[in-house]
Amino acid sequence: MKTVIYDTSEKDIKRAAAVIAKGGLVAFPTETVYGLGADAFDSDAAKKAYAAKGRPSDNPLIVHIAKTEDIRRLSPVLEETAGEEFKEYSGLKALIERLAEAFWPGPLTIVLPKRPEVPGETTGCLDTVAVRMPASEPTLSLIAMSGTLLAGPSANLSGHPSPTCWEHVKEDLDGRINGIIAGEPCEGGIESTVLDLRTMTILRPGLITPEMIAAVTGEEVSYDKALFEKPSEDPDYHPLAPGQKYKHYAPKAEMHIVPEEKLMERVAEEEAKSKKVGYIQRPEARTFFAKLREFDEEAVDIIFAAALPEGDSLSFSIMNRVLKSAGYNIE
Ligand code: TXA
Ligand code: MG
Repeated sequence: MKTVIYDTSEKDIKRAAAVIAKGGLVAFPTETVYGLGADAFDSDAAKKAYAAKGRPSDNPLIVHIAKTEDIRRLSPVLEETAGEEFKEYSGLKALIERLAEAFWPGPLTIVLPKRPEVPGETTGCLDTVAVRMPASEPTLSLIAMSGTLLAGPSANLSGHPSPTCWEHVKEDLDGRINGIIAGEPCEGGIESTVLDLRTMTILRPGLITPEMIAAVTGEEVSYDKALFEKPSEDPDYHPLAPGQKYKHYAPKAEMHIVPEEKLMERVAEEEAKSKKVGYIQRPEARTFFAKLREFDEEAVDIIFAAALPEGDSLSFSIMNRVLKSAGYNIE
């Protein structure tokens, strides 16, 4: 398949939207990482997205919306008369309005009870759906013009670092998808915070922190306890965000996490053995995944990343990615 590169002109976004409406796959920019767009209501399109990425199909996709009202197509929680079975969620409407006002468009994903119309292929057969409104004008237009909503996993091959510019998408998915919208590089650099609104639990940490959510909602916010554990191969290991259990973001070289004060010493030791070393002194959200891809290109033999200090929520979100990339290899 030939992968078409679209620009962000209205004409090109319209062409890309037509591809989505016909069940095709188009990668799109967001403020976090690039996403791989498919019609969220088309189970075959969702299957194609899993196949293009090589992703296990029990790992659910986030649905991207262009306006808060779009939630109505995915979940009954905004309805006044949501029905008996959703009565327990009637308080969610006010919460959503507050969060949307504060953080959308932006890097917050909320998990809601789903409508039966949302296919199991999109939600990994869960009875919930994850929803977010990305902060990217071309992508908001793409969603509006497509007439549907966009299921969108990160647009990388499964296991690779997430793509933070369109060229990364091309590296991984050229020939496997219909098109790529060549928008701006991503400002955020790590994926959205995933919040289960029913329990106010963060399932994946991101740039929107528990403190920010608590300040806006007045609710207590906690982390899923799986975020403090090393993912296990055990079939009984079930984190609330299924994606947290898979191998992720891995560079080609082995990667070690070291205390900051040991970093240059370890780099020197390995260089003395004639190894080509890549290192990151202070991992930052915006540049971390791009750095890993650079190390792949330079064909380094080993990578060191200094650990960020504990106790800070933003550092915790970044370290979540660093730990996964290094396969929890801590010196
Ligand atoms: O920033 C982002 O969120 C990016 C951009 C493209 O929007 N998207 C992204 O999608 O990171 P993906 O598919 O790579 O990660 C989705 C995460 C996974 O960890 C998945 O398990 C979790 O969200 N997730 C999706 N639906 C869920 C649900 N219904 N319940 C719990 N977790 C869910
Ligand atoms: Mg991903």
